[in-house]
Amino acid sequence: MTMKTNIRVSDGMGTVKETVYGQFIEHILTCIEGGVYDPHSSFADETGIRTDVLDKARELNPPIIRFPGGTIMCQYHWEDAVGPQDKRIKRKNLIWGGELNPSFGTAEFVSFCRRLGAEPMICVNMVSGTPEEAGNWVEYCNGTGDSYYAQLRRSHGYEEPFNVKYWCIGNESYAEPDLGVHHDVSLYIRDALEFIKVMKLTDSSIETVLVGCDKPEWNKAVLDALHPFGDYLSLHHYSAENQKGLYGPFEGEKALIQMVEEAEALIDTYPDTIENFNPWYRFPPRKGKLKIALDEWNIWNFVADKTYGLLSTYNWRDAIWVASALSVILNHPSIEIANMAQLVNVLAPIIAHPEGAYYQTIAYPFLLYRKNMIGERVNLEWQPVYFDGGEAGTLEALRCCAVRAEDGSLRMIVVNRDFSNAHTISIGTGKASATVLTADSPEAFCDEKTCCVHKEEKTVACDEIILPPGSVMLISDLHI
Ligand code: AHR
Repeated sequence: MTMKTNIRVSDGMGTVKETVYGQFIEHILTCIEGGVYDPHSSFADETGIRTDVLDKARELNPPIIRFPGGTIMCQYHWEDAVGPQDKRIKRKNLIWGGELNPSFGTAEFVSFCRRLGAEPMICVNMVSGTPEEAGNWVEYCNGTGDSYYAQLRRSHGYEEPFNVKYWCIGNESYAEPDLGVHHDVSLYIRDALEFIKVMKLTDSSIETVLVGCDKPEWNKAVLDALHPFGDYLSLHHYSAENQKGLYGPFEGEKALIQMVEEAEALIDTYPDTIENFNPWYRFPPRKGKLKIALDEWNIWNFVADKTYGLLSTYNWRDAIWVASALSVILNHPSIEIANMAQLVNVLAPIIAHPEGAYYQTIAYPFLLYRKNMIGERVNLEWQPVYFDGGEAGTLEALRCCAVRAEDGSLRMIVVNRDFSNAHTISIGTGKASATVLTADSPEAFCDEKTCCVHKEEKTVACDEIILPPGSVMLISDLHI
């Protein structure tokens, strides 16, 4: 029997930005081609979008979607994939294999976002692309004047601008095996500045995301040079089993927390307001505090074969990891954007099965958070309880986060990451409503016929709430 944990409500920590529930689609294996977009599917509409996938995505309700990569941005030329379909240019997909199908390009992506009520977030090619090409992309998307690229968009049938606000200045540029030379941070800084200049001169209202990572010295060099020019610092995190058994990914999550907290500490050293910005830039500097865009995150058990372990079947252990990671995201207010990687088929909550799309396990905790955890973020305090995670070492059993809903009540999600023991919590007196997600075992997974996730609704006594082993519990209607 484990000890009871008292959870106390402490101070507020700002508002949870909806953009932490973002998604990501890339030209990678079957994420876009055969996932989002598949004109040959019986579920496709007249635009080639799979409506069954769209419906599942609509329920996940992403407020922001990132595109076209990811690593594919190293070779992505946006002009290949706009205008009449028969004029588009198909290239070999050098990064992920196969071909890079240009049928789903900028306009199709923006339209997909709008159908879901999401903001588009575009990542520009800093490797084989140029600042001019990136600036032209901004103009094609956002131009309202009589310029060539604004007119080009109109000639493609889009009178109104796409108003793309979020622009990523490269992707994982520090990764030496990737194409390009930007793993040398001084070259990233030199080139990122040129890209931002052209892009912000084209549309000064855009917000830019600078490449950051788990190396503090990279982040410091980038921000020392570019903090007035960037609105967000991008961080990516994938946890993996790493030959450490069932709890391996939970050990991996410690690296996520460390990376975010080191970046937060660094961000705090830069001013919120930029003074004396050279007016000759002719666009404004960053306004307000630098923020973190965790614009790729998930669990990824990498395999060195042709699909790199990307076509992952997620089990219930992975869903508990996702619930835990979302709690980490919500407890770090500096993270204002987060994009689960990726939406369909590849490391994905949605599988586009030929007989109809279905959710993998990881979608269920995501939905619980997305539907309930919006509002004023509330700090919680509790004495951590630990359990033996085998080869992954000693781990904390619980992850908790809370928001105050519009009606003044408190909503809390508590994740029990211990698959062997129930844990008991107390959060005051009275009764509350609870929704509990469990599965029969950590290895359970969903397929096109069966959903392995059990959902129970019940009333709980707040002074003794029992969290089943490996469970996620939403506790709502709390008046504390
Ligand atoms: O999401 C898959 C890949 O992971 C992305 O292309 C890349 O940015 C990251 O390394």
